[in-house]
Amino acid sequence: MRTLSEIIINRRSIRKYKKDKISKELIKEIINLAVWAPSPFNSQPWNFVVLSREYVLSRKAHIGDLLYKKSEPALERIFKKKDFSQFIVKKFLKGFGNAPYLIGALRSNRIGEIDLGFQRASVYAVIQNILLIAYDKGLGTCWIGVDDESREAVQEILGIDKEKGELLALIAIGIPDQRVRNLERKPFNIWFLE
Ligand SMILES: Cc1cc2nc3c(=O)[nH]c(=O)nc-3n(C[C@H](O)[C@H](O)[C@H](O)COP(=O)(O)O)c2cc1C
Repeated sequence: MRTLSEIIINRRSIRKYKKDKISKELIKEIINLAVWAPSPFNSQPWNFVVLSREYVLSRKAHIGDLLYKKSEPALERIFKKKDFSQFIVKKFLKGFGNAPYLIGALRSNRIGEIDLGFQRASVYAVIQNILLIAYDKGLGTCWIGVDDESREAVQEILGIDKEKGELLALIAIGIPDQRVRNLERKPFNIWFLE
């Protein structure tokens, strides 16, 4: 059995998946476990949409192109032109690496009075749980951010009406078809103020 530390350290973003379907039951099981996350005033401000690959590809426009255009300048700036990283991300967003499902994580808009940032933070906590639980079950995932500017168009294209909430991320999920090497951690500070 893998320990929590091993799961946290070894989970990597997967950008290439086997074509095999995974069961809806398994996806429900993962989400039902992931929602044991903290939230402001225990508001639990989240909803989910699970989109099959066929559904995503049948929509009238391709959201991957839209999302890539948003992240391209930053990718070029951070990784430079010659770096492979931006091509990996571009290729991934073209067809989501054949992932059989995308899970849309939404901030539900039924909670009005709680700080928006806090509400979003709790959805992000659920997302991290999803990534870790899926990895523990032998699945791969990749977090695809949906930025404020693209959100309306992405939701429109995917047919996720605003009543369902604010789409914060799409999570590709499926059986991995690649091995990704572990990444180094960058230096950072821990200050104890005593
Ligand atoms: C908010 C957020 C948005 C992300 N958006 C994308 C994305 O649009 N496309 C992508 O390929 N990866 C995306 N990622 C995944 C990161 O690129 C990845 O986590 C990072 O490179 C570290 O790799 P690791 O997940 O294997 O540790 C996103 C991650 C986060 C947290």
